[in-house]
Amino acid sequence: MKNMKLLLPLLLISFAIIGISDAGYISWYESQQIIPPCGTGFDCGTVLNSPWAHVGPIPLAYIGVFFYLTVLVLSTMHFLDLESGQISNSIRKILPKWFPIKSVTVFDFLWPLTLLGFLFSLYLVGIMAFVIGEWCKFCLVSAGTSSTLFLISTIYLLKFYGKSSAIVKWLTLKTMGFCYRNIAKPIFFLFDAETIHHVILNVGNFIGNIGIAKFKTSVFFSYKSPALVQQFDGVTFPNKVGLSAGFDYNGDLTQILPSVGFGWHTIGTVTLQPYEGNKKPRLGRFPNSKALLVNKGLKSIGTKAVIAKLEKLPLYIPTAISIASTNTSFDTKEDQLFDILQSFLLFENSDVRHKLYELNISCPNTFGGEPYTTPKRLGQLLSAVDKLKLSRPLYIKMPIDQSKKETIELLKVADKHNVQGVIFGNLTKDKTNPAVLPEDQKAWKKLKGNLSGKPTFDRSNAHIKTTKEMFKNRFTIVGTGGIFSGEDALTKLKLGADLIQVISGMIFQGPQLIGEINQTINDSRS
Ligand SMILES: Cc1cc2nc3c(=O)[nH]c(=O)nc-3n(C[C@H](O)[C@H](O)[C@H](O)COP(=O)(O)O)c2cc1C
Repeated sequence: MKNMKLLLPLLLISFAIIGISDAGYISWYESQQIIPPCGTGFDCGTVLNSPWAHVGPIPLAYIGVFFYLTVLVLSTMHFLDLESGQISNSIRKILPKWFPIKSVTVFDFLWPLTLLGFLFSLYLVGIMAFVIGEWCKFCLVSAGTSSTLFLISTIYLLKFYGKSSAIVKWLTLKTMGFCYRNIAKPIFFLFDAETIHHVILNVGNFIGNIGIAKFKTSVFFSYKSPALVQQFDGVTFPNKVGLSAGFDYNGDLTQILPSVGFGWHTIGTVTLQPYEGNKKPRLGRFPNSKALLVNKGLKSIGTKAVIAKLEKLPLYIPTAISIASTNTSFDTKEDQLFDILQSFLLFENSDVRHKLYELNISCPNTFGGEPYTTPKRLGQLLSAVDKLKLSRPLYIKMPIDQSKKETIELLKVADKHNVQGVIFGNLTKDKTNPAVLPEDQKAWKKLKGNLSGKPTFDRSNAHIKTTKEMFKNRFTIVGTGGIFSGEDALTKLKLGADLIQVISGMIFQGPQLIGEINQTINDSRS
């Protein structure tokens, strides 16, 4: 393997020299204005005198020399860089500030260049075959050389380079985002939000079972790097970006989300009894405020049905199960508590391969409000959950509209119990939230439901900061709410979040957002 890692760059250097010799030979004849001897069966004169043999006044042969020389220089730099990486480091230092990718290496420039050379050769061979109808021997040698260069660098890419060049990945993600925002999203937004949600769940579920579709999804969307892998609470996360609770509420997307690039995934919120959801319409959009209006009220097929579905499935990324009490009225507080405990017990005794639990105490769209957001009731709930001695870490999904003091009170309670993490946080129900544009505030006042997206960003950030300052590393902190870009994610991480989650950003910006966030996080380390 190590030999191959050395051999492939050496082959690149060798073929670049062959390319220089071939293109240099034609260039020399070109400069003397004579046609090189071509041999029988070829007609170099017709090809080299054709309009396709020049780009403006510049002969293609000269461009060929320049191309192979650049490949030679980059291949040599890459070969010399294999051990130390110092050349790549120096390149990173001299890159201009506007350059979008900070973690580039020499190879990131080399592979796209060989791709370009290969595509251009295909075009030229096509011109000779179908337009000119004659062949130039030296042009065919060049086409063979550039194709071989592309083949070698692609083998290197797949074997040794995390399967993608950073520049090509960046361009792919940007293209996906552009297509999503300008083609898919305008069509989606013509239809009812919940209908589109169901379409996406069905399509995701369907393609999650097709190997080639998963592979293609991964090529177009996911960004992988060994540097992104991290452990929290004994769980290994391939990256920090998770799908927040509520999108995959019945566990339909387990097989496709790893290909989209998610590092973890929350299913639910699951409730013990099935609930068909609040009265429709219960999902809306405020595009100008970059928010979704949610009034689903914990729609769920119920714990047993979710377990039956998940027990059959492999889970490729850490999966959390979000649990809350069924959205119904309970005769006593004990009944409500028992409803939650039963869901935990059913999952504990199941064969589902989940790695975490989320305890959702903050759904604002439910029958009895948010009973567990007072220190006393939260303490009672957590004492009961402690007794279950859960086999997986427990993260609490926190509300975000409460004051700093109230948040600290709740955290002090969580601190005394078997709680490993806190998630900030859930939807905002504050109709005076200044991040909601005035026209949307007016409309919201007449509607039922609470907001996700940008209106949750600042509040979530404030709670993350408080938690980190007050409790240091006591909790794994998950930053959720209003992440629409890699920079938004970095803001939460810098304030103290260990992991992050998204929903609304993915809907407004596109599913490539996950890859973009991961690339930004990876770049921020360099
Ligand atoms: C359609 C929808 C349904 C949601 N349902 C749940 C839920 O069942 N449980 C939960 O804990 N949070 C739920 N949430 C809240 C999200 O998990 C997340 O905390 C919130 O949307 C903020 O993140 P975002 O701005 O990235 O969307 C839901 C959000 C949306 C948009």
